[in-house]
Amino acid sequence: MGATGQLGRRIVDSLIEQGVAPANIIASARTVSKAAGMKDQGIQVRHADYEDVDTMREAFSGSDVVILIPSTAPVEPRILQHQKSLQAAKEAQVGRLLFVSLTTAGFLDSKFEITPYLIYAEMKLRQSRIPWTILRNTMYLDAVGDWMPELVEMKRLPYPVKEGRVAFAGRDDLARAIAAASIKEETVNQIYELTGPESLSMPALAAALSDVTGESIRFDSITDEDYAEICRQGHEDVPEPLIRILTSIYWAVENGEFGATTNQIEALTGTSPLPAKEYLKLYWDTIRANT
Ligand SMILES: NC(=O)c1ccc[n+]([C@@H]2O[C@H](COP(=O)([O-])OP(=O)(O)OC[C@H]3O[C@@H](n4cnc5c(N)ncnc54)[C@H](OP(=O)(O)O)[C@@H]3O)[C@@H](O)[C@H]2O)c1
Repeated sequence: MGATGQLGRRIVDSLIEQGVAPANIIASARTVSKAAGMKDQGIQVRHADYEDVDTMREAFSGSDVVILIPSTAPVEPRILQHQKSLQAAKEAQVGRLLFVSLTTAGFLDSKFEITPYLIYAEMKLRQSRIPWTILRNTMYLDAVGDWMPELVEMKRLPYPVKEGRVAFAGRDDLARAIAAASIKEETVNQIYELTGPESLSMPALAAALSDVTGESIRFDSITDEDYAEICRQGHEDVPEPLIRILTSIYWAVENGEFGATTNQIEALTGTSPLPAKEYLKLYWDTIRANT
């Protein structure tokens, strides 16, 4: 599910890189037209919407493993979507469900306002009697990478964080690990915490950004209200409830929910994830090549 999204596409690519034949992959897409390129690669493309059990039952039929990448809906509708996907998986008799979660799901005192959904989803999955695998992702480095041109202009990295650290990982490395976990039988009924190799303070992240871009970027610890204003300016159509959710990610950072590192990406794939500086360098080179 979610095969047309940024994480989903990379998981599909990683499955192929790891030896899965395109004909053995089903890309389930809410918007099938976005998967035209996958069809051309020989991948099966099926329509599936988290809101509609019938579409998911059809899409899941004949699957050994179904990877659930959640949508970005708010908590309550997302819980309903999860219930529907479990029902569809049961009716389609899928062999295993692999759920893409977040490290905050390990914190009953989580400050991230989507965590109630994640805890619900993980627990319901574990009680579903369908074999399962849970992969808790850390924060994507890609959000920092996408922001780099503006950070260079602002000469600062403004986050509502004081002491918090993040074991960032790139989407590419997370996708490789998720693909590997879906292929390996020993990952059944296991929880994995997928993180980058180092836990970075925000000043250390700013220093890495400065090194990569050759420009001075200093960390600026800002208030929640200033961060909300940056969100409003960056994307005029960001609804206010989403701004609060985005801000709560940094409350979770401050609460230590993204700070721990593990070696589980390497354990699953045999290759360690890139440190932030190297991943951001690739990002910066691509940005420069396209401008
Ligand atoms: N760890 C982090 O730092 C971090 C950061 C951002 C997001 N996330 C999480 O990562 C996941 C995916 O991220 P992403 O970057 O791949 O997001 P994305 O590029 O926005 O992709 C979202 C995908 O979900 C699909 N989708 C949305 N609503 C759906 C529905 N009702 N039924 C079926 N599919 C639906 C979208 O399909 P359409 O093409 O039809 O829209 C799209 O394929 C989400 O769970 C998100 O919460 C994590």
